[in-house]
Amino acid sequence: MTDEELIDIARQYRKHSYSPYSRFKVGAAVLTAGGKIYGGCNIENSSYGLTVCAERTAIFKAVSEGEREFEALAVIAGTEGPCSPCGACRQVMADFRIPRIIMANLRGEVKTASLAELLPFAFGL
Ligand code: THU
Repeated sequence: MTDEELIDIARQYRKHSYSPYSRFKVGAAVLTAGGKIYGGCNIENSSYGLTVCAERTAIFKAVSEGEREFEALAVIAGTEGPCSPCGACRQVMADFRIPRIIMANLRGEVKTASLAELLPFAFGL
């Protein structure tokens, strides 16, 4: 599984985005250590604070299927530069030790960072 393939799956899931309030579509795909992929999109709610980001949708789908070991997560949106995950999603990535984050946009721009780079001094129990 190449980074480009994972980005492409995230791009497909972005099409499922339920974002009538922001009109900002996001897609994500997480790759497990066993080579499985779980995709997700952002899902908004009329009570705005209940919105779930694409990254957390993908991670929670994987975890709810019993996955615990991850290799990478790709996220894509129509941003100016590669789409950078929000702080809440970074903490979820930290708890599930997702080591590599691949950020992309619809123009084909890609940036890869380690979780330590995205969330230095992460909280953990
Ligand atoms: N969003 C994501 O899905 N992922 C991010 O990393 C940033 C924000 C979503 C939440 C909301 O539906 C919309 O983008 C605008 O904030």
